[in-house]
Amino acid sequence: MTAPSQPFSLWPLRLTGTVRSTTRALFFNGEKVGRGVPAEPRSGTRGRNENGCAPDAPTLHRPSGGYPLLAVRDLQVHFGSPANPIRAVDGVDFDIRESETVALVGESGCGKSVTAMALARLLPAPPARYVAGRIRYRSMDVLAMGDKQLRTLRGSEIAYIFQDPANALNPVFRIGDQIGEVIRLHRRRTDPRVETVALLRMVGMADPERTARAYPHQLSGGMQQRAMIALALAGQPRLLVADEPTTALDVTIQAQILELLQKLQRDLGMAMLWITHNLGLVAGMAHRVNVMYAGRLVESGPTREVLTHPRHPYTCGLLHAVPQLSGHGERLSGIDGVVPPPTRIPAGCRFHPRCPLARALCRTEEPELQTVSTTRGSRCHFWQEVDK
Ligand SMILES: Nc1ncnc2c1ncn2[C@@H]1O[C@H](COP(=O)(O)OP(=O)(O)O)[C@@H](O)[C@H]1O
Ligand code: SF4
Ligand SMILES: [Mg+2]
Repeated sequence: MTAPSQPFSLWPLRLTGTVRSTTRALFFNGEKVGRGVPAEPRSGTRGRNENGCAPDAPTLHRPSGGYPLLAVRDLQVHFGSPANPIRAVDGVDFDIRESETVALVGESGCGKSVTAMALARLLPAPPARYVAGRIRYRSMDVLAMGDKQLRTLRGSEIAYIFQDPANALNPVFRIGDQIGEVIRLHRRRTDPRVETVALLRMVGMADPERTARAYPHQLSGGMQQRAMIALALAGQPRLLVADEPTTALDVTIQAQILELLQKLQRDLGMAMLWITHNLGLVAGMAHRVNVMYAGRLVESGPTREVLTHPRHPYTCGLLHAVPQLSGHGERLSGIDGVVPPPTRIPAGCRFHPRCPLARALCRTEEPELQTVSTTRGSRCHFWQEVDK
């Protein structure tokens, strides 16, 4: 059969193979699953720069202490022809340390998903073009990898969960077969049946054996989301990319899934790239926040600092657009205007047509990333004047 959609190619189904004994799994709530590493982000304990990045590479995006698990430098991903490029991602730099959760936040159309998909080269090229930049995952240059290396990377190093479980779950195979197949491919000495049930229990399925026998359409939206998370965890990824995983869910289920992901990150010690358009969701989730606008990062820093003292007018706008429970139920103000399409990026600061602080310099000169502190950066000429 053919894969129903592109991201499903992450999990090629053979549905063959034999059951082997469990030898490698670690413990989670008494179950044998995952790697079992500490909750807080780990620093570079191996004492060397294993991803090959110079230790003094751009410090604004390098979290203090240790070398990153993932280092993205000047990433540029275009669509369209070289003569008429669609610059979806236009020079992005950030790092993710082991066990760290990093949020990527911005309105729809800013380039978050293209950035995320590029990390494991999930965007087929063509139509995508990886025009420039570098993606270093551990010691590997992702942009130079061959097909075999990419398959390993996608199966057992970087896993994805999406807004729509239909992108990940194959409708014609039972949940248990899909999860078991990933375990068979990437964890040869683990019993797929035992591990599948453990994973389904870990993501909160009340009757994991029954869920393993179910087809995706027999599950509710929230349960499908949990099954997709179990599928993503089946290869024991070091990095989980969660692209707006709760956007399509109702508020109660959304809270449950957020809580589950937080717990998994803490207990399994995975690094996570958390993508959302809602800055309000990152508070309890992320160690660091990267704010993206029109293909570039415009602010970066530790979550608490960015939320309490934003240093870019766009971040302020996103904060004011966060829906909050107010006594009068009034709609809170957001940001006037819309994100420009990648084919119509304004000259000067990309945010200037929407910025309440814009002045003459902003219309002509694009700001470089300004150093706010050793761990923070802002792409605003006047960041000192920005006040929440
Ligand atoms: N296959 C494609 N062809 C052309 N343009 C694309 C393609 N995929 C994404 N884009 C464009 O890239 C920009 C960023 O998209 P995306 O990363 O999906 O935004 P976000 O996830 O922040 O909402 C958008 O303007 C979108 O239209
Ligand atoms: S550089 Fe100017 S237009 Fe851009 S965000 Fe700062 S004040 Fe606003
Ligand atoms: Mg998106």
